Amino acid sequence: MCCLLFVLGLVLSAAPASEALDNGLALKPTMGWLHWERFMCNIDCDKDPDNCISERLYMQMADVMVKEGWKEAGYEYVCIDDCWPSHQRDAQGRLLADPKRFPGGIKKLADYVHSMGLKLGIYADVGKNTCAGYPGSLGYYETDAQTFADWNVDLLKFDGCYMDQTRLGEGYSNMAKALNKTGRPILYSCEWPLYEWPVRKPNYTAIRETCNHWRNFNDVYDSWSSVKSILEWTADHQDIIIPSAGPGGWNDPDMLVIGNFGLSHDQQESQMALWAIMAAPLLMSNDLRNICPRSKKLLQNKRIIDISQDPLGRQGYRTGKVDNFEVWERPLSKNRRAIAILNVQEIGGPRGFVIRAATGWNICNPQCNVTQILPQYREMGVQTAHSKMVVSVNPSGTALLTVTPISSNS
Ligand code: GLA
Repeated sequence: MCCLLFVLGLVLSAAPASEALDNGLALKPTMGWLHWERFMCNIDCDKDPDNCISERLYMQMADVMVKEGWKEAGYEYVCIDDCWPSHQRDAQGRLLADPKRFPGGIKKLADYVHSMGLKLGIYADVGKNTCAGYPGSLGYYETDAQTFADWNVDLLKFDGCYMDQTRLGEGYSNMAKALNKTGRPILYSCEWPLYEWPVRKPNYTAIRETCNHWRNFNDVYDSWSSVKSILEWTADHQDIIIPSAGPGGWNDPDMLVIGNFGLSHDQQESQMALWAIMAAPLLMSNDLRNICPRSKKLLQNKRIIDISQDPLGRQGYRTGKVDNFEVWERPLSKNRRAIAILNVQEIGGPRGFVIRAATGWNICNPQCNVTQILPQYREMGVQTAHSKMVVSVNPSGTALLTVTPISSNS
């Protein structure tokens, strides 16, 4: 067994390197629901009325979010992704919702969502077309920003398909200016770095000044290999991307796919724990009308959500890799730490991990209080720097803990 390879240092204590977009939004990672991963571009409302991209889908999701405790848990934004508009703009050059699938129009839908105490998100693209081939905003940034503001939309996911990759920065910042000019606070969710990486290293200072969150890597799929690849990319690029995360601007590893078909329960726990450690937006893409109680409980777990929404607003790191375990840690307010132990060995049974090996354990000198949150809640009591506490972690599962220092004079 080899020793832990700790890559920490200053980074764990550094504040964000640049100013955030100053629109007063996303001071904590955004929470809500986004249609893409689960419902994709299903526009056949004749054959599949319950699952097609239509105003009904968002109204039903909003209803469930209020009735079933999602809003109460913090999930606030109901977000439309691609495939909502008509293929043609109107005579004034404005985007229009598909009249058959959105007979009331987006403004009415926004009113409905607001009447439930929730917020509405919409989707557009910085280039000539959206990724699914609907009209893009290139040449129409001001018109589209004003249209979204007139409809009382609260969030814009701005995709990067069909755009000259050398002009992404220009496009994303011009749209930011257009949104700002409307005077309506609209949370700005970008995919700028994802599309820029193939041509050059993105400028994260500029991105943080422009966007409230930004996608860096591939679309999430409903599979453990997809979730794993996102974690791997994030850890491999952590020194580049983490300094730019903080209140007002976050790295976005894409949607939570918990409650769908592809992840075992242990893997769902891993996604939830690691998305909280990464200070990621918690945008679920699942069918809240029909979700298994265990997934619902996990998504609504207050202790995990508290880690995600911690007021210090610092993104966590992968701090070590040893013996087919990964250790991820996030600094929390009041000098606390969240520690996640991911068992990446996909053969065999549960394996024990000695927590003392985590970097954050240094706050246990002289003493700390430890709470285990996953796989089950357990108060582990007062520990010292020398305690030999072992947590058991299932294959592709995660143990999640918080560690609270107890100072010698308290
Ligand atoms: C891209 C984005 C996805 C989704 C689709 C829609 O692939 O990365 O999140 O918005 O486009 O077409």
